[in-house]
Amino acid sequence: MEIIKLHPEIGAEIRGVSMADVANDDNAYRAVRAAFEEHSVLLFRNQPTDDQVQVGYSAKFGPLETAKVASLGEGTPFSILTNIDKATGNLVPQGHKEELRAKANQLWHTDSSFRETPALASVLSARTIPGVGGETAFVSQRATWNRLPQSLRAKLANSYAWHSYAHSRGKIDPSLASQREQNAMPPACWRMRWRNPVNGRDALYIASHTYAIVGLSDKEALALIDELTAIATATGHSYEHPWRAGDVVMWDNRASMHRGRPWPLDEPRYMIRTTIAATDADGVAELRPPKMAA
Ligand code: SIN
Repeated sequence: MEIIKLHPEIGAEIRGVSMADVANDDNAYRAVRAAFEEHSVLLFRNQPTDDQVQVGYSAKFGPLETAKVASLGEGTPFSILTNIDKATGNLVPQGHKEELRAKANQLWHTDSSFRETPALASVLSARTIPGVGGETAFVSQRATWNRLPQSLRAKLANSYAWHSYAHSRGKIDPSLASQREQNAMPPACWRMRWRNPVNGRDALYIASHTYAIVGLSDKEALALIDELTAIATATGHSYEHPWRAGDVVMWDNRASMHRGRPWPLDEPRYMIRTTIAATDADGVAELRPPKMAA
């Protein structure tokens, strides 16, 4: 297996091992898992666009999430991110729910921090890509953590923040998260530092979903979240992936943030994401506020 770095702070391309190898061979899984723990974003090129391979690969890393209520793919392991209308097959117009959801995905975030169980990793497979735009950008939250002053790190390591799906969707359109979605996905509270149990490295855990910090006023909390996001995403610190047909990118939601990039609405983009829920072995136990500890 060859590992070729994509950016000084995050990401590596894996060569010589395919997703099907990982699904079927424990040695291949162990090698790719080690690369995942180290590099946070992994790129596989020239993969078959095959749902079963994607599920088989993803399931090696842990339990799969089911796609959110009211989303394309609801109730299945496949989150479908697209501007193609499911009912008609036409491209959606501006203001359509899927177009607004794409805009929400263009805010810096980590997947599923609003869920009862946060996500370990996401696996995104390019099925149809636009001729221009539609990249996915990543930043390392380990690198962000290391850039913060020691006094702030000490504070954040023992701070807890609230994450809400309705909050991030509300930044795009106040009615984007329906009552059904809000009922199914109430806010969740997590420590603001996620320590990787394999290598002990710390990462800042925030997202576009973060709206409050325990012990701070709303105004103070939002100002701090904005400041931390600006530090994380400062020029030069992101890797922006230009998709090619057959690309699959996996990322560590514990140690990175990402955002989709815009593309022309008159071009189709169809991506399929599988998401792996984090377990205590991935460090979730330490993420819970003390009163919720088992
Ligand atoms: C995501 O936010 O999970 C996907 C980002 C993208 O569509 O590029």
